[in-house]
Amino acid sequence: MRIGNTSHRSITALADASGVSIIDQTVLPHQLTRLSLKSLHDCAHAIAAMQVRGAPLIGITGAYGLALALREGASDALARTAHATLNATRPTAVNLRWALDRVLNCVLPLPLAQRADAAWALCNALAEEDVATNRAIGEHGLTVLRSLKPKCGDRLQIMTHCNAGWLATVDWGTALAPIYLAHDAGVPLHVWVSETRPRNQGAALTAWELAQHGVPHTLIADNASGHLIQRAEVDAVMVGADRITARGDVANKIGTYMKALAAHAHGVPFYVAAPWSTIDLTLQDGVSEIPIESRSGDEVLWFNGARTTPVQTQAFNPAFDVTPAHLLTAIITERGTLAPGDVQKSSPSLV
Ligand code: MRU
Repeated sequence: MRIGNTSHRSITALADASGVSIIDQTVLPHQLTRLSLKSLHDCAHAIAAMQVRGAPLIGITGAYGLALALREGASDALARTAHATLNATRPTAVNLRWALDRVLNCVLPLPLAQRADAAWALCNALAEEDVATNRAIGEHGLTVLRSLKPKCGDRLQIMTHCNAGWLATVDWGTALAPIYLAHDAGVPLHVWVSETRPRNQGAALTAWELAQHGVPHTLIADNASGHLIQRAEVDAVMVGADRITARGDVANKIGTYMKALAAHAHGVPFYVAAPWSTIDLTLQDGVSEIPIESRSGDEVLWFNGARTTPVQTQAFNPAFDVTPAHLLTAIITERGTLAPGDVQKSSPSLV
């Protein structure tokens, strides 16, 4: 995607194949800094510290981390240990396990001497696949957006949460891909961006992406979402996902569920845009079965370098919540737009 006049991806293989280059998302929007990751440790740290984040991107970064680990030792035992180390960095987004499994399943049947190169080639292919997948999600989502009519004024009002844009993937994004394509196609729209406390991915990342692309947008406090939905200032909500169960329950950034409840109460369509790699057919009931990452309470207790509470106060910081399938209008994937209840029967293994 564009930053100024140049085209960027959130992760690229270094020209000499010694590692990958990522955008350090912890310093955006103030600094655009690229970091080189050259080992399993570098990749695991980048995911855990959220220098890279977003379900598809942590999957690709984890895959490269496993490929780099195989250069240090390619035995089955070392490969499985590297897989486990990377998979433990963040628990909710299933794309991480999906990508690590792809690499492990590719290399285990091969002779040891071929494993590292084969893994590296697969990672490059997975990165390209991610770009094509997100572009396809964008095309299907554009059809959805074109079917909506603005309730007030002459432009569509889309609300999003967290960052499900190109920074969360290799390129294009999931929830933002339809918005970019609609904007480029001349569909008049405006995006309500919720700041996404405590880590502010909406404010720091989504607003930055949209600004770089020239998409009209307005930042709101997370708590303003219900107010805008109630006043018919939102034509649709469009978010990403970190894990989708077989029955269509969706884990996404904390605060998604409250938006879905408000949208449902006011008849506002609620769309989830995600690749098939986000679907976990081993789970049914998202609320009881999806592991929810609990992050440091300091992310809640501190804001802009200053503590906002008395020192005695403790904080609880779940990073994701689960929106039950019945609150969703549809799930937009690279294979098309589905009713949430159709996830299982449309799975690639069944069609
Ligand atoms: O904690 P994060 O920033 O990794 O959470 C990201 C999200 O919740 C995104 O909405 C989700 O991963 C979809 S990204 C295309």
